[in-house]
Amino acid sequence: MRWFAKLRIAGKLTAVMMAIVLLFALLTGLLFWSTISDVMRASLERRGTSVAVEVAELSSEAIQTGNLFALEELIHTTKRNNDFVAYIFLLDEQGRVMAHTFSKGMPLHLRELHPAAGEEPDVMEIRTDRGRIRDVSAPIEGGAFGTVRVGVSEDALAGLLKTNLFKLSGITLGILLLAMLLIFRLSEILTRPLFHLMERAEHISKGHFSPRSIALSSSDEIGRLANAMNRMEEHLKEGARERTRLIRHIITAQEEERKRIAMELHDETGQTLTALLFSLRALANETADENMQKALLAIRDETADTLTKLRRLAVELRPPALDELGIEAALEKLVHDYRGGDAPEITLSCRIEGTLSDVESLAVYRIVQECLTNIIRHAGATRALVRLDVGERITLWVKDNGVGITGERMRAARRENHMGIYGIEERVRLLAGRMEIGSEPPDWATVYRIEFRTKGART
Ligand SMILES: Nc1ncnc2c1ncn2[C@@H]1O[C@H](COP(=O)(O)OP(=O)(O)OP(=O)(O)O)[C@@H](O)[C@H]1O
Ligand SMILES: [Mg+2]
Repeated sequence: MRWFAKLRIAGKLTAVMMAIVLLFALLTGLLFWSTISDVMRASLERRGTSVAVEVAELSSEAIQTGNLFALEELIHTTKRNNDFVAYIFLLDEQGRVMAHTFSKGMPLHLRELHPAAGEEPDVMEIRTDRGRIRDVSAPIEGGAFGTVRVGVSEDALAGLLKTNLFKLSGITLGILLLAMLLIFRLSEILTRPLFHLMERAEHISKGHFSPRSIALSSSDEIGRLANAMNRMEEHLKEGARERTRLIRHIITAQEEERKRIAMELHDETGQTLTALLFSLRALANETADENMQKALLAIRDETADTLTKLRRLAVELRPPALDELGIEAALEKLVHDYRGGDAPEITLSCRIEGTLSDVESLAVYRIVQECLTNIIRHAGATRALVRLDVGERITLWVKDNGVGITGERMRAARRENHMGIYGIEERVRLLAGRMEIGSEPPDWATVYRIEFRTKGART
C-alpha cells in the first residue's frame, strides 16, 4: 500500500471512490446475471412447453391416419421456425420412435428420460455435448397416441446473456470513467485550499514569511486551519523580528564593548606598562649591581613583550577606522597581521566597484577575521585565499586547502558553545544575505561563500 500513501489526497479520494463504484458495479452485474438468467431460463422453458403442446395437438390427426410424411414435415417446420429448439421427436404409445429431426441418427437413450408419461407436460434438464438442454415431454391426446419430445437449447440463452452482459460492462466502464473524472475534479476543488495551506506551511518551515495572510472565506475545518496558520505565522514573524532586534543589539553592544576594552587596554594598561618600562630602564641604568641590572633588564624585556601583545590584542578588538581606511586597506592590514610563523600563505584579492556602508564594511571585516582565525586554528592549511567582490552585490570567498570542514565538526562545535560560524551566519542574516560552506576540490578543501546585496541595491 506504499503507492497509496504516496498519492495526493485527490488521488486517494478518487482511488477509494473508484473501488467503491467498481465493487458496486460488480455486485450489480452479478445480481443482474443471476436474475436475468433465471427469468430467461423460465421463459425458455415456457416457450419449449408451448411448442411441444402445439406439436402434440397438430400431430394427432397425422398419427391417426398414419401419415408419417406429414409428421416429418410438421416437426421439421416447427424446428426451423424456432431457433432455440435443438430437436423434436415423436414416440408412439409403446415408446417407439415415429419421427425425429436428428440428422445423424437419434440417440436412443433419450427415449427413457422421463418417467411414465402423464397428462401434463414434463421438463427435464440434460447435459449433452451441445451444452445444456431442457427436454420437454408433452402427451398426444392424453398419452393415447404417444408423446412429443422437444429439446430446447440454453446456448441461445447464454449468447443472449453474454451480449447483454457486454453491453452492461461497456456502460459500467463508461460510467466508471466519467465518475473517475468527476470525482478527481471534485476532490481537487475540495483539496485546493489544503494545497495552498501546505505550500504556505512549507514556505514558513524554510523561514520565509509572506506579507499577506491566507484568505479563506469558508468556516469549515480548512477555514479554521487557515486562520490558525495565519495566527501562527504572525507569532513567528513577531518572534523573528524580535530575534533580529536582539541580535543586532548584541552585535552592536559587543562592538561597543570591544572598543571600550581596546581603549582601556591601550590608554590605561598600555600607558601604565609604558611607564613601567621607562622606570625599569632607569632603575637598570642606576644600579651598580650587575646581577640586579640583568634581572631588571629581563623584566623590562618581558614587559615590552607584554606591551606588544597587548597592542596587538587592542588592534584585534577594535577594527581599524574602516570609513577612513576603506575595506580593502583594512583587509590588507588584517591579512598582514595573520601572516608569519606557521600561518598559511594568504592571498587577498579585492574588486570594489561600489560603496559599502559602515555596517557592511564591519560585517565583512569581522567575517574575514573569524574565517582566518578558523583557518589558523582548525584547518592546518598551507594556502588560503580571501576574495571580495563589491558591485550590485557583495560576495566574499574565503578558501583554504586544509583538512576540510564537516557538518559533524560544526555541530560538535555548536554543542560546545563555539559560536564563530554561528556569529557569521547571524551577521549575514541581519544583512539579508546568505552563506554557504562547501569545498572546491581538488584545490580548496573549505570554501566559505557569503553573499548579500549592498544597501543601495536593497532599498
Ligand atoms: N577552515 C576550516 N577548516 C577545517 N575545519 C574548520 C574550519 N573552520 C571551522 N572548522 C570547524 O568548524 C568548527 C566550528 O567553527 P566555529 O568558528 O563555529 O567554532 P570554533 O572556531 O571552534 O570556536 P570559536 O569560533 O567560537 O572560538 C570548528 O570547531 C572546526 O572544527
Ligand atoms: Mg571560530
